[in-house]
Amino acid sequence: MGAVNVLSHPLILDKLSTMRDKRTSCADFRRLLREITLLMGYEVTADLPTRPTLIETPVATAEFPVLASRAVTIVPILRAGLGMVEGLLELLPFASVGHLGMERDEVTHEPSEYYSKLPRGAADSLVIVVDPMLATGGSAIDAVANLKEHGCTDLRLVNLLAAPEGIAAFGEAHPDVDIFVAAIDERLNGQAYIVPGLGDAGDRIFSTL
Ligand code: PRP
Ligand code: URA
Repeated sequence: MGAVNVLSHPLILDKLSTMRDKRTSCADFRRLLREITLLMGYEVTADLPTRPTLIETPVATAEFPVLASRAVTIVPILRAGLGMVEGLLELLPFASVGHLGMERDEVTHEPSEYYSKLPRGAADSLVIVVDPMLATGGSAIDAVANLKEHGCTDLRLVNLLAAPEGIAAFGEAHPDVDIFVAAIDERLNGQAYIVPGLGDAGDRIFSTL
């Protein structure tokens, strides 16, 4: 199983608690998700290699660190993952964005793919897969399998909330992929929703309740 990084910074947890509140408006939910993703992105990218580069300041010339590679692809799992793209792009404005559309069947909870568009060069880049919810893990497992079929090898998964069941299933399916999550909740309910969770992330982002 890959590493499971729980990013429980007080600012992240405070914002997440507001997102959980059913009275939080759609506009605030979207804003908070963007802000949390930006904060999480700082940790998700903490080990990116740098290389020394000669830079001329107004005073002197010296070597300073810059990112060794700018080959990064952000891949939101549609729809809800879209809410996490902007926050990461603020940190990584040079990143490309691919899209994977996955929809969970309401009865079987099995995901099915309805859209896939990846930028050229994704296979040779760091791929950061984003989706607010890791419930059964089915959507993320299939999304990462799709990316591996396209040749991607350097992958990270970033979720806002996870259920223990989803973490275990994803870790078994993709032991080479590290997970970054703000919180791991108690369990799944009979409808495979995360408890206590925050409800349906896609519906709350796009006001389709
Ligand atoms: C939600 C969520 C994840 C998935 C998690 O998407 O955004 O993609 O469910 O559940 P899983 O771990 O059991 O697969 P949903 O299928 O509801 O689509 P949406 O984003 O369009 O609302
Ligand atoms: N998808 C969601 O949006 N919320 C859950 O709790 C589970 C799956």
